[in-house]
Amino acid sequence: MRQAGRYLPEYREIRKTVSSFLDLCYTPDLAAEVTVQPIRRFHPDAAILFSDILVIPDAIGQSVKFSEGVGPQLEPVRSVKDLAGFSSEKTNVHLAPVFETVRRVKAQLADDVALIGFAGAPWTVATYMIEGGTSRDFAHTKTWARADPEGFDQLLSLLVAATSDYLIGQVEAGADALQLFDTWASAVPADQFDRCVIAPTQQIIANVRAVKPGMKFIGFPRGIGPALAPYAAKTGVDAVGIDSGMSPSYAAEILQPDYAVQGNLDPMALLVGGDAMLDSAASIFAALRNGPFIFNLGHGVVPQTPPEHVAALAEFIRAGGQR
Ligand code: CP3
Repeated sequence: MRQAGRYLPEYREIRKTVSSFLDLCYTPDLAAEVTVQPIRRFHPDAAILFSDILVIPDAIGQSVKFSEGVGPQLEPVRSVKDLAGFSSEKTNVHLAPVFETVRRVKAQLADDVALIGFAGAPWTVATYMIEGGTSRDFAHTKTWARADPEGFDQLLSLLVAATSDYLIGQVEAGADALQLFDTWASAVPADQFDRCVIAPTQQIIANVRAVKPGMKFIGFPRGIGPALAPYAAKTGVDAVGIDSGMSPSYAAEILQPDYAVQGNLDPMALLVGGDAMLDSAASIFAALRNGPFIFNLGHGVVPQTPPEHVAALAEFIRAGGQR
């Protein structure tokens, strides 16, 4: 999950020195520094690259901006005509600064700290491209997907191609594992799920593994509940990220025999801190510790989080996670 960010004063200091969020993503020494900041403080077993899922629309030709307090703003694409001029061909030229970030981070991390690269899954990235930002109902995306399936598939294919290249570039630069964020997977109607979520994810994983055999993937299709098991089986992920809504004992029983599980402390438990936070962490640990398990949150750290709470949690987990 998001590990760097506004909850850290040292991140806010660096953020002030650049005029836009994307500039931060595209300035390797700064992006490497903010990637490593939480590692210095909390000593987790893995770092997640500092970038964003919306560098892909930016790389293929869409205008993307991040405004303070508003979130991402994109010039929306609403039909296949709006894709004219977009291309995945220059993805890795445009995103070369991110690969440089990966190299710089790798050079700074100890050998026993893994670096997780990532990208957004095509469905979730498409929602931002089509809605023009965050959405409540995804009305434009869902109507396009139903009304013009061929056109919508062209957008998904473009995203599959760009995202595959981007992830291969990250691996070549030194990423040890890859995570695919499908934050809005739960918005996909059941009859469209294979087409919009499974197929593009499966294609990206196959494309990357064709060049990087055995590359490890963590899938995070947020909020899909019992659809996680068929998602994992059909896409080929090695590990699944579970959101805070899924019971850890259910995940232990249904998912852990076949996949590593990552999750799933409620980020709001980190706001509360103290015994309430540690009790929740301990019960997740108890349920999942007997199988392949990556302790994590169920979603990203929120900006109001006191860093001392994160430090207390990390220390508790390293000490064995037991009450
Ligand atoms: O350690 C890390 O933080 C890793 C880097 C990372 C970021 N975004 C940096 C970021 C990762 C893994 C992401 C993923 C991401 N980005 C997702 C999927 C995961 C999730 O949270 O569901 C999504 C949906 C996005 C798109 C995005 N980026 C939104 C909606 C926003 C605005 C909301 C917000 O939190 O401000 C962003 C901005 C963003 N991406 C920030 C960070 C640290 C905050 C920007 C700032 O500094 O002001």
